[in-house]
Amino acid sequence: MLRWSALLTLSTTLAASPSAGCDLDTQAGAQTLVLPFASGTYEHAIAVPDGFAGPRPLLLYLHGWGGDSGECGATCGRATDRGYVTVALTGVGPSGWSSWNSPGAGDPATCAPGTPDFCHKYASCDCGEPACDWATCEDSTSQILEVYEAVVAAYCVDLDRVWAMGCSNGGMMVHGLASDDRSAPLLAGVATAVGLPHAHHNRKPATPMHYVGYWGASDRVVPPLSNTDDEDMSVDTDGWYYSTARNTTDLWAASMRCGAREAYAATSMDCTAASQCDGGADVVECLFDGGHRCGRPYMDDLVFDFMEPRSRAAATPTAAPTDGACDDDAGWFLKKKYRGCDWVAKKPGKRCEKSGATAACPSACDVGDCCDDDATWYSKKTNRDCAWVAKKPNKRCKKKSAGSLKIKATVACPEACGTCREPP
Ligand SMILES: *[C@@H]1O[C@H](CO)[C@@H](O)[C@H](O)[C@H]1NC(C)=O
Repeated sequence: MLRWSALLTLSTTLAASPSAGCDLDTQAGAQTLVLPFASGTYEHAIAVPDGFAGPRPLLLYLHGWGGDSGECGATCGRATDRGYVTVALTGVGPSGWSSWNSPGAGDPATCAPGTPDFCHKYASCDCGEPACDWATCEDSTSQILEVYEAVVAAYCVDLDRVWAMGCSNGGMMVHGLASDDRSAPLLAGVATAVGLPHAHHNRKPATPMHYVGYWGASDRVVPPLSNTDDEDMSVDTDGWYYSTARNTTDLWAASMRCGAREAYAATSMDCTAASQCDGGADVVECLFDGGHRCGRPYMDDLVFDFMEPRSRAAATPTAAPTDGACDDDAGWFLKKKYRGCDWVAKKPGKRCEKSGATAACPSACDVGDCCDDDATWYSKKTNRDCAWVAKKPNKRCKKKSAGSLKIKATVACPEACGTCREPP
């Protein structure tokens, strides 16, 4: 056992991807990075831990609406204690109105008529009729990327352990970073504290990555639980609409072909995890008893305990198929390397039921032409076929077929569920 753990430690050290900043001699302690962006100049607070050798994990922290780089405070302190280089950023807006252009901000469909509009605070927005504007209209992803580039060039960080975390508006913004092709490949994952995408701006991650989110069950600012006729939508006290926590994490889990949701242990939180997702990613969703709060010690522990053993997900298997989308994925395996699609093909009846096997091994599991919906598939009743799934893909793509194969709708109804693996 001892030998094993020594080996494991060694391999994690070897696996690090040092940034360019590792060639420089960086001092520990608190520092300020001042960077221009758009028409302004912004101060970002950096803290480098003392006494940790080699590349460190990097935490990019995004404040809530109207906050600034000072907001990370105790949370960044806990992260540096664990060896993270922390960067607390400041978003765009006049003093006291700093913000991130998170998914759906400014979409006229994201608030009820008469909801107060804050467009006049943000020079970057084109204000006409009230249009649910409340944050900067600059491209916040591009601002965050510029900070990231400056940081990895100057500090020694492990590029396989770069995390974006945010509270409230910052937590909304991490969903934007995850769904954007420019930023997603750089991230090991995201952590959202009391932040959700606006309604109908729920987006899947652009590449597989880890996700951990926590929300207050009685939060009235960004309510995580439905309080509308739509079970996937919540509304806050002012009239802003959100995708619920479950709707948000369901999309992540479905798009990364995760296994079934299971309980996940955390102090003072009620959590579930969907694991064995593409690239080895995990999706954790937690509720606590309380309102719009972030950064309490037990909340930070949840996030940092989650991040500690994890790093950037393995490259997506979408590049693996050669001839067509129906080929078995040569890079896929179930926990152990030898349990690939060949292994599944030997006992498809039993092994196709294993998490992810039908999706990765369409040929071994004989699930038909994997880019067309399977005309013979149904869940429980014959009228619950792919056409039925297509009407409510968000809920119904989780259904499985009856019988021993238990083929998931995401596999049998790739058109309906948008899960077709395109040939490269
Ligand atoms: C729920 O998520 C789905 C994607 O899975 C999305 O299409 C839908 O708009 C979301 N609902 C809300 C209210 O945001």
